[in-house]
Amino acid sequence: MMSTRETSLPIVTTSAAEAAHSVATEIAELIRARRRGGRAAVLGLPTGRTPLAVYAALVELHRHSALDFSNVVTFNLDEYLGLAPQHPQTFRRYMREHLFDAVGLDPANAWIPASDVAPAQVEAHCREYESAILAAGGIDLMLLGIGRNGHIGFNEPGSARDSRTREVRLAESTREDCRAHFGGAAHVPERAITMGVATILAARRIRVLAFGAAKREIVRRTLDEATGPALPATYLRGHADVKLFVDAEARPAS
Ligand code: GLP
Repeated sequence: MMSTRETSLPIVTTSAAEAAHSVATEIAELIRARRRGGRAAVLGLPTGRTPLAVYAALVELHRHSALDFSNVVTFNLDEYLGLAPQHPQTFRRYMREHLFDAVGLDPANAWIPASDVAPAQVEAHCREYESAILAAGGIDLMLLGIGRNGHIGFNEPGSARDSRTREVRLAESTREDCRAHFGGAAHVPERAITMGVATILAARRIRVLAFGAAKREIVRRTLDEATGPALPATYLRGHADVKLFVDAEARPAS
């Protein structure tokens, strides 16, 4: 059963499976509504374990309910810097594997920062990313996870509310979380490109997912602590159309 509690960050408590179904349904409705209006649906997308069930549900809707992705444009939140394009841990590869290839998304509509930008080109690349989001009409729906240290995208603690797409240094706890995927700490990239906090907050809708006991403490802090750079997820509070989906394990005692 779903239950909703009104705070400055509305929370929906439900199972992870129901949350994934609910968010995938909302995305499908958005895609169909935009199609009827002759427009593209613009999605902001995360990686990590949390959104996998949403991507699986979207693939299911594509295969069995004729959900057509030809009017969909996506912008991923972030990408590691310093990986060859064919590296198995790029977020581009993750997105192709879990969503893009399975729903037939036109690669020209799938924006992800490049993992192999030359240092001298990074700033221009980030500016172009912001321009592409604007040219697409802005992000209609941003799907988000929360990192263990409260990061959104790769906006680590210390990120400013007015930050835009830029190069960042990954926090040690973030690199630690990625270690297993890279076969050891030494292989985890030190830097990444991420949409900024302001880029994320400019999305018309934001849907945040946090599941499992490992997320309970960061969810609690996101709800309770003062809004500010120490915990970037707190910036989500007060957005005009944000919802946080948690399961019973991730929900802090009230
Ligand atoms: C990564 C990503 C975030 C993601 C977070 C949580 O570092 N850059 O976009 O939300 O980690 O990941 P997970 O869903 O695996 O807990």
